[in-house]
Amino acid sequence: MARRTARRTNGAETNGAAVAGHVKDMKLAREGKRRIEWADRNMPVVRAIRARFAKERPLKGLRIAACLHVTTETANLARTLKAGGAEVFLCGSNPLSTQDDVAAALVAHYDIPTYAIKGEDHKTYYSHILSCIEARPHVTMDDGCDLVTVLHTKKKSYLKDVIAGTEETSTGVTRLRAMAATKVLRYPVIAINDADTKHLFDNRYGTGQSTMDGILRCTNMLIAGSTVVIAGYGWCGRGVATRAKGFGATVLVTEINPVRALEAAMDGFQVVSMEEACPRGDLFVTLTGNKSVLRREHFLAMKDGAIVANSGHFNVEIDIPALERLSSPKREVRQLVDEYKLKGSGRRIYLLGEGRLINLAAAEGHPAMVMDMSFANQAMSVEYLRKKHKSLKRDVFVVPPEIDKTVARLKLASMDVQIDTLTPEQVKYLASWSEGT
Ligand SMILES: NC(=O)c1ccc[n+]([C@@H]2O[C@H](COP(=O)([O-])OP(=O)(O)OC[C@H]3O[C@@H](n4cnc5c(N)ncnc54)[C@H](O)[C@@H]3O)[C@@H](O)[C@H]2O)c1
Repeated sequence: MARRTARRTNGAETNGAAVAGHVKDMKLAREGKRRIEWADRNMPVVRAIRARFAKERPLKGLRIAACLHVTTETANLARTLKAGGAEVFLCGSNPLSTQDDVAAALVAHYDIPTYAIKGEDHKTYYSHILSCIEARPHVTMDDGCDLVTVLHTKKKSYLKDVIAGTEETSTGVTRLRAMAATKVLRYPVIAINDADTKHLFDNRYGTGQSTMDGILRCTNMLIAGSTVVIAGYGWCGRGVATRAKGFGATVLVTEINPVRALEAAMDGFQVVSMEEACPRGDLFVTLTGNKSVLRREHFLAMKDGAIVANSGHFNVEIDIPALERLSSPKREVRQLVDEYKLKGSGRRIYLLGEGRLINLAAAEGHPAMVMDMSFANQAMSVEYLRKKHKSLKRDVFVVPPEIDKTVARLKLASMDVQIDTLTPEQVKYLASWSEGT
């Protein structure tokens, strides 16, 4: 493993001789660069923002600590922020999601200090977050709220430098709202996840496709004819359920929210309790943002050979300690596939990717085409926060609608899709309460 460090002059500036970082193998940098460039071809909105940022330099002098999945798309976001004049420090937001070639390329080719190694242990994961915090960021960019949590608990003295932050995912937004509600949150944060051009596309189509991709790469199972159980019919669950149906599976959905359950039923899925789903499912996928969605009583009711995977943010959706207690020691039967043999019945349950989000643990995460929109929201939200942070309270904010619409317009333009505009008569009609009578 290569730990390249640079002496820091004021806790933030590198000395220019070598870029700081802790990555697996610098020899992977060339391949990482090739893949970053490939992803960039499918990120026209981010590219357009990068070109503007390079001219206008709206982020000049800003230090950004980013705790994101270290993927090719994230690399292109980091390049964009840097083009805007920011100093960017990057660490992974999950121990299994880092693409080691990308991490190496960021250090070697893009001068972006990166601290991330695929498969890093708990201690290393947090030491990498701390390395980013040591840069004394003005802005935090988080995916799951781990960086913000460490900052607010272990590095409180650094909070005075922070002007604002952004949060990428549903689970992180939930945690931040809890912090804001208890008055713990010390600066304004924009919930990128809540932009329409993020969750309607990234969570639905990105997670939908890449979750199936991760499961297939792990197992090479035939989805057609199998019974797939989707826990949680949120934006991610909708996506995976739809893709599984498209592959020819019988799809069962479990929910705790009556409206979402109704929606799943009317979308043509069988909505059942997990208890009912357990003896029927061949493959279970959790996407709830909740914990212990699959637990002891469920494992005991599953059939021999059931496969369980998670694509929610944290690895707590499947109660792995409970599965371990029920089984003889696990056996890795294929890369990222652990076999748990239940004591007594001898039934086998296969856990994919250690219960970590499977689309990033076993595949490449979301396609660049969809991350283009999520990360365009990130880049423009940082620009917005730099200008407006003084007028914002210590709370969680939605992405300004003008940013959301700009992202949609730029994406449509890149796809060569035209839409209509309102005629003056329509504008008048829509603005009037007395028209139409
Ligand atoms: N894998 C990825 O790349 C990726 C991408 C985006 C989001 N995420 C993560 O996926 C998770 C889901 O995100 P989302 O945007 O769909 O959230 P969401 O809030 O839209 O949906 C979650 C759904 O799960 C349901 N739910 C909660 N507890 C449940 C339980 N015990 N049983 C059944 N259903 C339950 C909720 O009612 C809700 O409908 C989050 O953790 C999010 O951070 C992962």
